[in-house]
Amino acid sequence: MTQETTQPEVNIGLVGHVDHGKTTLVQALSGSWTDQHSEEMKRGISIRLGYADATFRQCPGVEEPDCYTVEEECEDGTPSERLRTVSFVDAPGHETLMATMLAGASLMDGAVLVISATEDVPQSQTEEHLMALDIIGIENIVIAQNKVDLVDRDRAVDNYEQIQEFVEGTVAEDAPIVPISAQQEVNMDLLIGAIEETIPTPERTEGEDARMYVARSFDINRPGTTWENLSGGVIGGSLVDGEFENGDDIQLRPGREVDEEGQTEWRSIETSIRSLQAGSENVDSVTPGGLIGVGTGLDPSFAKGDALGGQVAGTPGSLPPTREAFEMDVELLDRVVGENDEVEEISTGEPLMLTVGTATTVGAVTSARSGECEVKLKRPVCAPAGAKIAINRRVGARWRLIGVGTLTE
Ligand code: GTP
Repeated sequence: MTQETTQPEVNIGLVGHVDHGKTTLVQALSGSWTDQHSEEMKRGISIRLGYADATFRQCPGVEEPDCYTVEEECEDGTPSERLRTVSFVDAPGHETLMATMLAGASLMDGAVLVISATEDVPQSQTEEHLMALDIIGIENIVIAQNKVDLVDRDRAVDNYEQIQEFVEGTVAEDAPIVPISAQQEVNMDLLIGAIEETIPTPERTEGEDARMYVARSFDINRPGTTWENLSGGVIGGSLVDGEFENGDDIQLRPGREVDEEGQTEWRSIETSIRSLQAGSENVDSVTPGGLIGVGTGLDPSFAKGDALGGQVAGTPGSLPPTREAFEMDVELLDRVVGENDEVEEISTGEPLMLTVGTATTVGAVTSARSGECEVKLKRPVCAPAGAKIAINRRVGARWRLIGVGTLTE
């Protein structure tokens, strides 16, 4: 038997309010869930957002949607055919970490929004997450109306209508709404069918320069490892363009802060790829899709504790510039997400928390006009003109999403 390729080809975000069933759904679809940090550390690659891969399959000769399955064997005992492997990116639901959610959103090609049928719509994080998808421009969305086993038919219909009303006028307006029970594994075939239809694998152009968003980084050496056995720093994240091969040279930006004669500046880092992991396998090359781990020749101390999270890695000479300050066009939301207050204009001098790609940094506003502003960053970012920026303002004790920026220069 030939070995099936299992590198995921598409990243699907799982978003939704706490306890609405994201973890249970991923378990139902993949039979596994990388939730434990120690296991993550061992593999050295999973990102803070948590992830699991699922292979969708189809039973030949069976009608839609009954044909969709994750089992290798169909009900009649014949083998199922592999459609594709998808990688699920989980967003934290416990507290509203919009920055993490948004950093993850830059890795998502589409999203499944999980909404529980047992509660009124929308709950606060359902609303926040949908807003985040809207801002980052993730248009391919499937809504899973979960826990239908816990409500009667009338309640399920009411809830379905509430969902329809809630998504009206948003990026999820045309998203299919699929009633499911993740726990009882009801309607999984319908859900897989909807994902296959709504969230296609993005077209990748061959021969492009490689670009990876780094979400995490590690020193995977155990304490006491002798120098000849030391492994270089590992970066984890997602390749969004091009291809990485073992042995390739790569560059990382912004890189690291160098202090020379009292002057500090950020310098990009150049290194080479020593090993590659996709899913949980060691591979010789990777293409976009799923989360990858890249073993590098870097001093492991550079990579320790996610120190390289938020950086961009790729073909040397091809990366966007490092910016310690930038100008952006600003579009403010009508009201603060999660609060009922109107969003006030951005003012000069105020601190903002900005998420650009997988990087989150605090910036001070150096000049603000209506619809645009300039910021000076505490930690620089590597980003091209046109990059989308999620803008958060401190409201009380928390950072709240107030708008979206587009980097102009
Ligand atoms: P966070 O990761 O905390 O945001 O939660 P989550 O969205 O991942 O929810 P999780 O999957 O942990 O589910 C929360 C609870 O709901 C668990 O006790 C699940 O067993 C239960 N649950 C999830 N889906 C279903 C379902 O379809 N039916 C029923 N009856 N219970 C469900």
